Amino acid sequence: MNVVVVGSGIAGLTAALHAAEAGHRVTLVTKGAIGDGCTGYAQGGVAGVYGTDDSAEQHAADTITAGAGLSDVSAVDVLVQGAAARIAELIARSVAFDRDADGRLLLGREAAHSHARIVHAGGDATGAAISRALVTAVRDDARIAVVERAMLVDLVVTDGAVRGIRLLAGTAFDELSADAVILATGGAGCLYAHTTNPEGTTGDGIAAAIRAGAAVADLEFVQFHPTVLAVGSPFLISEAVRGEGATLVDDAGRRFVFDTHPDGELAPRDVVSRAIARRAAAQGSPVHLDATMLGATRLARRFPTIDRVTRERGLDWSAHPLPVTPAAHYLMGGVQTDLDGRTTLRNLFAVGEVTRTGVHGANRLASNSLLEGAVFGARAAAALTAPWTELQVSARPEQASAPVTAAVPFGRDALQRLMWDHVGLLRDTPGLEAALATVRAWAAAATPPETARAHEDANLLLLAEATASAALSRVDPVGAHYREPAPAPLLETV
Ligand code: SIN
Repeated sequence: MNVVVVGSGIAGLTAALHAAEAGHRVTLVTKGAIGDGCTGYAQGGVAGVYGTDDSAEQHAADTITAGAGLSDVSAVDVLVQGAAARIAELIARSVAFDRDADGRLLLGREAAHSHARIVHAGGDATGAAISRALVTAVRDDARIAVVERAMLVDLVVTDGAVRGIRLLAGTAFDELSADAVILATGGAGCLYAHTTNPEGTTGDGIAAAIRAGAAVADLEFVQFHPTVLAVGSPFLISEAVRGEGATLVDDAGRRFVFDTHPDGELAPRDVVSRAIARRAAAQGSPVHLDATMLGATRLARRFPTIDRVTRERGLDWSAHPLPVTPAAHYLMGGVQTDLDGRTTLRNLFAVGEVTRTGVHGANRLASNSLLEGAVFGARAAAALTAPWTELQVSARPEQASAPVTAAVPFGRDALQRLMWDHVGLLRDTPGLEAALATVRAWAAAATPPETARAHEDANLLLLAEATASAALSRVDPVGAHYREPAPAPLLETV
């Protein structure tokens, strides 16, 4: 079978390797250089190594609780049951997860996990270690052709089935035919003015899937990471820092997150992010992450990347708390799939952040994303030759919006600001309606894209519209989708 995999994060690389090992001819297409993209930036680890007092069932329960009860139980089950094999595979592919002096895997704990069950590599450089190992394996595999610096423009669909992709490399358009396409293009962090995602995370796969008629869902569930450095360009300060004991304090030195949740700094991400945003707005300056109690030696050993980057920016976090702010981090929604990555469009599979597998519900549990990419990447490859089964999904109603003329002309910055202000952490009906109307006005005035940048902008516009529309459709606040007016709860629970 001719298989085209689009994207070179953990999900795409895993799918490509498994498809090649199953005997398929694989072409891996990636927008930047192979291994660029979100996986390499992941500081958190891979959840799924269970100590004697822990189990896959408890991991599943934590995943469902973090997802505010909206996860698909069968997808969560597939995720946690698949963890051991995928982590063993990564180790076999030379990912050196951190170990203690006796050679046992070191297990970390992050927010909303009931147990320490997360493996890391290089302290806070797990994604980079995984990316390096998988890229090496792909480069060493003669059965995989790699096409770099080629952007997915569209899926080629004939008679209701995907037959290949259209891509843009430099200024040249091209077509690759395929018996199956596996989308692994990641999320859409660049929809927002502040994001942990690298440039180029513009939702190309989701947008192409929408244009081709594949079903998408849950786009309103955008996860905002609570702690991104508020000095210079966005840089993630891993949740694992809070897992090790760092605290969030306001200008008066108070641990304010306890005002809204009994788990304080280790409450679910959406709760912590909102608490930070509200506190920062109230005091008119960023809140701080205080890791000074961990000491310079431990910080440098456990978090070498964060230690290096903060020092490069002139900050000594062993001596002074760091100013932090939330930023868009992860998209729980995406292209709808079954448990093997099949979408609603024949011959089209999707794996990783581009998908809505049902694992994450309304909010992703920390360190489940690399795991999801590995587990579902392998499953999609295994399902390539199985008979195609139709995925049945129910459609949500499209939201209407009154015609408007946008107050400012379209530009990526203007779109990102609009999404940040009105389709971000805290949403309300007038803001969502205004955002949807503005995005539609921009889309109506847009000319057909020609350059890669213009294609990205068109993808962002399409996703902005779909996200604002989905957020308007979901009236009740749940998980990462927080919508005013709602009674401001004194004590939030998930
Ligand atoms: C982090 O290290 O805080 C991010 C991990 C994740 O997103 O799962």
